[in-house]
Amino acid sequence: MSSPGTAPPAEVMSIASPINLILLSLFVVLVYMQFRPKAPVTLPKSPPPIVFRTFTPTTLLEFNGVDGKPVYLAVRGRVFDVTPGRNFYGPGGPYENFAGRDASRGLAHQSFDEEMLTKDLKGPLDDLKDLDAEQMENLQSWEERFLEKYLVVGKLVAEGDPEAPKS
Ligand code: HEM
Repeated sequence: MSSPGTAPPAEVMSIASPINLILLSLFVVLVYMQFRPKAPVTLPKSPPPIVFRTFTPTTLLEFNGVDGKPVYLAVRGRVFDVTPGRNFYGPGGPYENFAGRDASRGLAHQSFDEEMLTKDLKGPLDDLKDLDAEQMENLQSWEERFLEKYLVVGKLVAEGDPEAPKS
């Protein structure tokens, strides 16, 4: 038995040796590292899935890039997501007339004038039958460029077409 004021017995001294104290603190640190609360794992956000849709000229209209909405346009029945080209087709862009519209005739004529756009959105699609060879060639090369650059997100059909989305 040790009395107050006297040194602890030798076996206690050997347990509390500096090397043991270092090992103990290392152990405590390791246990803490193992069990400390970890920040929740956040996975990078994946882009929204692309759903292939059928549009009519009326339902396509809203995809004009206004208020941050996507920008779509149609070329010969294919609907392209041209949102990456918002500078061209978005509000204030040089080709904004094409946004949310069938751009086929305008591309064929190399003109983004209003009169190139189908007036009657509820009527038949522009069949482009009056285009000459050069205009068809223009259209073809624009179409190829769009196919390389943009995603096809749907097809354009006339209102009343059996494939048209039910409103
Ligand atoms: C004053 C005449 C015009 C000028 C100076 C002009 C200029 C340009 C420029 C600099 C580009 C970007 C090219 C690139 O970086 O790939 C471009 C693209 C384009 N231009 Fe024009 N352009 C003109 C007329 C027209 C007209 C009349 C049309 C009508 C169809 C048109 C339709 C387009 C289209 C569809 C694109 C492709 C945009 C894209 O990549 O999505 N341009 N134009």
